[in-house]
Amino acid sequence: MEKIILTGDRPTGKLHLGHLAGSLKNRIRLQNEANYDEMYLMIADAQALTDNFSNPKKVRDNVMEVAMFYLASGIDPRKTNIFIQSEVSALTELTFYYMNLVTVSRLHRNPTVKSEIKLRGFDESIPAGFLNYPVSQAADITAFKTTLVPVGDDQLPMIEQTREIVHSFNRIYGETLVEPKEILPESSYAKRLPGLDGKSKMSKSLDNCIFLDDSDEEIKRKVMSMYTDPNHIRVEDPGQVKDNAVFIYLDVFCEDEHFKKYLPEYHNLAELKAHYEKGGLGDVTIKKFLANILIELITPIRDKKQELESNIEYVYEVLKEGTEKANQRANQTLREVKEKMGLDYFTNAKFLEEMQEKFQNK
Ligand code: TRP
Repeated sequence: MEKIILTGDRPTGKLHLGHLAGSLKNRIRLQNEANYDEMYLMIADAQALTDNFSNPKKVRDNVMEVAMFYLASGIDPRKTNIFIQSEVSALTELTFYYMNLVTVSRLHRNPTVKSEIKLRGFDESIPAGFLNYPVSQAADITAFKTTLVPVGDDQLPMIEQTREIVHSFNRIYGETLVEPKEILPESSYAKRLPGLDGKSKMSKSLDNCIFLDDSDEEIKRKVMSMYTDPNHIRVEDPGQVKDNAVFIYLDVFCEDEHFKKYLPEYHNLAELKAHYEKGGLGDVTIKKFLANILIELITPIRDKKQELESNIEYVYEVLKEGTEKANQRANQTLREVKEKMGLDYFTNAKFLEEMQEKFQNK
């Protein structure tokens, strides 16, 4: 079977460390392992509009921004097709047909949608488009016959919903769509990186992010403001590593070599943690260490992005070409889907024959 990889992001702002840990790293690894037939990366502008419909400029402006973050962090357009969701109209058509296969109450039960509804204060006035976005995401995934979706764990309900739609469609109309599998990050913290404030998720709307183009100064300032252990007041106090955002980030981003470079008194994270738990290790030391690691990680991304900012035309061409390829594949699936549903009046000569037979034999 073909191995097709697809993921995407809503273009509503800059990409941050949560994106990097949650899915970007996995995408780049998969891209470079080159063990697939095709790889797609979608800028989900239509999905972004489902909760930003009154602010279309924000979505429009961030399409380029997200594309540049992709390229700057190591996505190679020769290996990965980057495309814009709204420019692939087959996705909208598929969404409309899939809506018949999903109940409204099922959509209300989606845990990610539930928490987003709360976060956005939609209460009783939930836009139908927003409630329906998991169906549109099923269209994104199935349009490419995607087999693998590298995501953070907040996207699991969408993939589950997609599998249900695939089952229903294939059962009713015949084997057509392919069931996707998720690829989650290995570490449980990377699946959902907490924010600087230790809250459950790094998110632009919660204002607790380190962006992938922050300056060294910003990174230092943000790391110094991070949540640690509220009971670790004096250096001598024993500290908690669990639920301590600084240690969670270290778990995700720190490698043994970083100790040689920035904190040679220790060999590895286990030693550092043990000292912190025993007492005698101050927050400033661990924060400076983390800041150095993040600066090393972010500097090349920031520099590459700056370079791209003075070459917008190149990014534009990448998007145009990627979108063209995406259209070819999605249109092919749409044709199959419509054919299975009998919606192929002018492309299948059988329709005319059938109707002639039906009405002549009357
Ligand atoms: N829902 C994803 C997000 O909020 C974006 C997205 C849209 C997506 N369509 C997708 C992710 C298809 C993976 C596959 O980031």
